Amino acid sequence: MKNDLQKILLNENDIRKRIQELGLEIDRHYEGREILLVTLLDGAIVFAADLIRNLSSPLRLDCLRVSSYGNSTDPETAPRILSSLKSEVEGKDVLLVDDILDTGNTMQRVSEEVLSKNPASLKTCVFLDKPDRRQNHFRATWSGFFIPDEFVVGYGLDYAGQYRQLPYVGTLKPSIYEK
Ligand code: IMP
Ligand code: MG
Repeated sequence: MKNDLQKILLNENDIRKRIQELGLEIDRHYEGREILLVTLLDGAIVFAADLIRNLSSPLRLDCLRVSSYGNSTDPETAPRILSSLKSEVEGKDVLLVDDILDTGNTMQRVSEEVLSKNPASLKTCVFLDKPDRRQNHFRATWSGFFIPDEFVVGYGLDYAGQYRQLPYVGTLKPSIYEK
């Protein structure tokens, strides 16, 4: 699997250090208030798992399944929310967590959905952020790393369902896309 990678952009140490910083920043923001942390499935589970272990704020977890990509590296359709939250959102301090902010369409769509349920506040945290790809004005409250416009895999991010378990982030060899 490692042989399929062209280059590694972020190694395990880079990721661990940045998530510790994010944890401190997020804790500082919430000042002990309880967070309703909503993770977008499937890509953000690895990031969310590490992020929550770097938070000392009280929190509850919920997940939303959103679909926008098939087996391609480009968004094929508008994002669709495929599940509903188990938690009551009204009056809660919601933190949306995703793996990557690309066009911004997913976070925009999910934010609208959460805001329609009257949370006390809504903040967003993404592991990766590709500002060059944005198709709207969406900005994450916290971004782990800003990266160039390249398709990346690992640390939860997939290509055709594969490579999510890699503990680092990298780009794939062009030959993988030709298969
Ligand atoms: P957006 O709606 O275009 O911002 O896309 C967000 C979703 O697209 C993410 O949650 C990822 O699942 C997927 N995505 C975007 N860029 C990449 C990438 O470089 N690698 C893997 N998945 C990506
Ligand atoms: Mg995703």
